[in-house]
Amino acid sequence: TTRTPFIAGNWKMNLDHLQSIAFVQKLAWTLKDANHDFGAVEVAVFPPFTDLRSVQTLISADKLELGYGGQDLSAHDSGAYTGEISGAFLSALECGYVLIGHSERRTMHAETDEVVAAKVTAALRHGLVPVICVGETAEDLEQHGPSAVPVAQLRAALENAGANPDIVVAYEPVWAIGSGQAATAEQAQQVAAALRAELAERDAELGARTRILYGGSVKAGNIAGFMAQPDVDGALVGGASLDIPEFSSIVRYQ
Ligand code: G3H
Repeated sequence: TTRTPFIAGNWKMNLDHLQSIAFVQKLAWTLKDANHDFGAVEVAVFPPFTDLRSVQTLISADKLELGYGGQDLSAHDSGAYTGEISGAFLSALECGYVLIGHSERRTMHAETDEVVAAKVTAALRHGLVPVICVGETAEDLEQHGPSAVPVAQLRAALENAGANPDIVVAYEPVWAIGSGQAATAEQAQQVAAALRAELAERDAELGARTRILYGGSVKAGNIAGFMAQPDVDGALVGGASLDIPEFSSIVRYQ
């Protein structure tokens, strides 16, 4: 199985509406100018909900080969859930992906493993590929070693997802997010291998084809080391995805 490398930019609650449009356009032009082969390395952006419509409009008008998706979704399909955004809304905007269980959602919005699992099935119901985020805190690492917590989170997230769902996994050690202190390529590989083994135990094909990303202080200067690892298939980039030259260099890591 060959897995197409995947570089994703999570904008979080940065970039306002007007900036997003110009940003996506500039990013696409920069990559085109550099003759980026979008088939060889897939690129996706995760703007705030309010920017998804304009990103969709731009991408479809200019036939840009950029993927995009929401940073979260509701576990419910519709109803009296003030402020929530369902998977149906995201697929109506032609999102391909949705981030689920980012550590900022887990810690600041009290998303439990059960909530994450319900969101994963909601995404799958609506034809969205969930990018399932897992990762250990510094304390977890000290107490349980490198892989135990991320593997348990992945298992829980897939509780009701069937044997062979179409997913992407993002391993993001909490201590590496926004800290400037990335995991080493070897650390990322060790956990990615454990996550892949967990997927393979569920279904051999799932293990072989699922893309596993590393996230946490990824920059142009350290991306190549991660991409050289056999079980790391891409990156989920936060801060460095807000800088076009930097993000373009990450996309063009080869
Ligand atoms: O979703 C992205 C991660 O939280 C990584 O963020 O690249 O700013 O460390 P960062």
